[in-house]
Amino acid sequence: TIPVILDVDTGIDDAWAIWSALRSPVLTVLGITTGYGNADVETTTRNTLLITELANADVPVVPGAAKPLWTPWEGPVPDFHGHNGLGDAELPPVFRKPTPGDAAQFIRETVRAHPGHMTIITVARLTNLARALLYDPELAPMIRQLVVMGGAAFCPGNVTPVAEANIWGDPEAAQLVLSAGIPTILVGLDVTHQARLTRDMVEGMRRNDPASQLFYQATRFYLEAYRRISPVFEDWCPIHDALAVFVAEDPGLVQTERYPVAIETTGRLTRGMTVVDSRSGPYPPSPVEVAVGLDEPRFLNAFLSRSGFFPNP
Ligand code: BDR
Ligand code: CA
Repeated sequence: TIPVILDVDTGIDDAWAIWSALRSPVLTVLGITTGYGNADVETTTRNTLLITELANADVPVVPGAAKPLWTPWEGPVPDFHGHNGLGDAELPPVFRKPTPGDAAQFIRETVRAHPGHMTIITVARLTNLARALLYDPELAPMIRQLVVMGGAAFCPGNVTPVAEANIWGDPEAAQLVLSAGIPTILVGLDVTHQARLTRDMVEGMRRNDPASQLFYQATRFYLEAYRRISPVFEDWCPIHDALAVFVAEDPGLVQTERYPVAIETTGRLTRGMTVVDSRSGPYPPSPVEVAVGLDEPRFLNAFLSRSGFFPNP
């Protein structure tokens, strides 16, 4: 199996990512690190603990950054994730406690304990991982694979015309991580906007236990949020974060191209932009593979059946 750390800001699509990772026959989740983003870090940590509890998975949940590396936090995203981060669904009580410590130190220690073996999947701002790399300059070459849900390489952004939320939320951290030389697959909006969960699929979910009820309620909220922003999302929502989990298991789900990638940190209109150098080479070999195409049927089939929430996927 593949040992992974999952870094989250739970978040409705993060909840799907966690659920998928914990039920994976291929991944072994050694820990989940949390941070601010869709909600504050206390809320995302509580939500993460809840999902691990519902999944009956005994995995450390380690809280991390409450704000970006060097800039103030812009605040939560209640329009998309509700005030409780899970679409204002009714939440059952949470009994588990966070693991003491700090996310960046946890990442550091876990990678050092398994040098050359860990995959890190980030589906949130890159602050925790950037802090781990800042603490420990020798860490980057010990990471086997990084899968980042983030960026908009050849497509528009979702927070600004050019910036995707996980990059825009801490561009300095993203630039630090993407320039660290770690073998990386960038799973951005180019492909997550091809990972479409439709309203009909959601209406076909079972809702006969606490987990399926929670996911059903939260995902309906998410569908409505997407519907409000554009007619493009009339009857579906992108399943951003879970796609990164499935790519970590099976990189063949996406078609990738290797490019030098940098993050714009200073532009007045372009801060947080994923700048992909797609001019014809010769390039110095880039450690970053940009996902540009998705086998959507294969992904959806895996995603729907993995969850256990769909009677006839
Ligand atoms: C990303 O932003 C967050 O709101 C989602 O959870 C996802 O990680 C999509 O741009
Ligand atoms: Ca997220």
